[in-house]
Amino acid sequence: MPRLKRVISVVLASVGAIGLMAAGTVYGVSTTALTKAYDAPLRDVPVSSDSATLARGAHLVTAVGKCVDCHSADFGGKVVIDDPALGRIRASNLTTGRGGVLGNYTDAQLARAIRHGIKRDGRGALIMPSDDWITLADEDVGAIISYIRSLPAVDRELAATVLRPIGRTLLAAGQLPIIPAARIDHSMRASAVMPVDSSVAYGKYMADVGGCTGCHGPSLSGGKIPGTPPDFKPASNLTPEGIGRLTDAQLESVLRTGRRPDGSELDAFMPWRYTALLTPVEMRALIKYLRTVDAKPYGGR
Ligand code: HEC
Ligand code: HEC
Repeated sequence: MPRLKRVISVVLASVGAIGLMAAGTVYGVSTTALTKAYDAPLRDVPVSSDSATLARGAHLVTAVGKCVDCHSADFGGKVVIDDPALGRIRASNLTTGRGGVLGNYTDAQLARAIRHGIKRDGRGALIMPSDDWITLADEDVGAIISYIRSLPAVDRELAATVLRPIGRTLLAAGQLPIIPAARIDHSMRASAVMPVDSSVAYGKYMADVGGCTGCHGPSLSGGKIPGTPPDFKPASNLTPEGIGRLTDAQLESVLRTGRRPDGSELDAFMPWRYTALLTPVEMRALIKYLRTVDAKPYGGR
């Protein structure tokens, strides 16, 4: 589970960097961070129960958004991090079953939670990478919500999220970047509806909402992924200087099989099991877009 590993590793990497803080201060400062209210406008998104919308939603929560990685395929949620020193974080049960929160949310609140990382009560959702989805188009957020609303209720009451002393110390010291709402530019706008085609524009959209820029960097030139420990594989250079040597067919094969043409396997941190699920049209668009970005030396991000 690449994203989870990313979060956990951020945490572990930071432990050594922290000095001593008074316990009371730590508790107070971390509680302030955890309970801080964020604001972003509530916007209506188109929600429907037609089969094309539901199919689009089902695709987006796997191949693109990878929601199922944390919330489980049945969206009943699960504990995604449980560390004796740092704490326990559960990804919510997003159904109407026992322990589920779906019934408490309006569609506009769900859309805000997904794109801005802001929960119904205004608090920032922990660890969910909403930074990747701030530009998700209304239609796509609507399709995700439509799909989630169509799923059967799951009765699953998970142990509550709790941050333990080392987790709190790191958070208080600003060394635990687990609240995406705190770093998201909430004024950023959703993308306009886009025809799902093999255009470069659609490819850029896939690269953004598909999380490529999140790990490979805004300019896609790769390098050390911020917050990961020293022994973690850096992200590859996806600009022409890095993957220009691969043909389109080879690049597609890397994204579908997790293997390079020379047979070497990609680190599991690269979510190829999800990129493997992109449709042929999305794959073409994504590859076309990657060919158009400026060539950059490795590691500039
Ligand atoms: C890396 C793991 C991860 C991924 C991927 C992820 N989430 Fe979450 N999500 C969480 C966690 C953890 C919470 C609970 C946060 C909290 O309680 O602070 C959460 C909370 C939410 C909430 C708010 C629920 C509440 O309890 O108030 C919604 C809505 C949501 N996620 C939807 C989604 C959707 C839709 C996707 C895919 C586009 C997604 N999530 C992908 C981890 C994830
Ligand atoms: C969670 C972080 C993460 C995300 C998200 C991610 N990647 Fe990667 N990617 C990596 C890492 C790390 C490597 C290096 C793996 C290795 O060296 O074994 C990598 C390697 C690759 C490679 C292999 C290039 C080569 O030959 O070295 C390609 C191609 C690639 N990523 C494309 C993508 C695309 C396209 C997306 C978006 C759809 C994406 N990645 C999303 C982390 C990520």
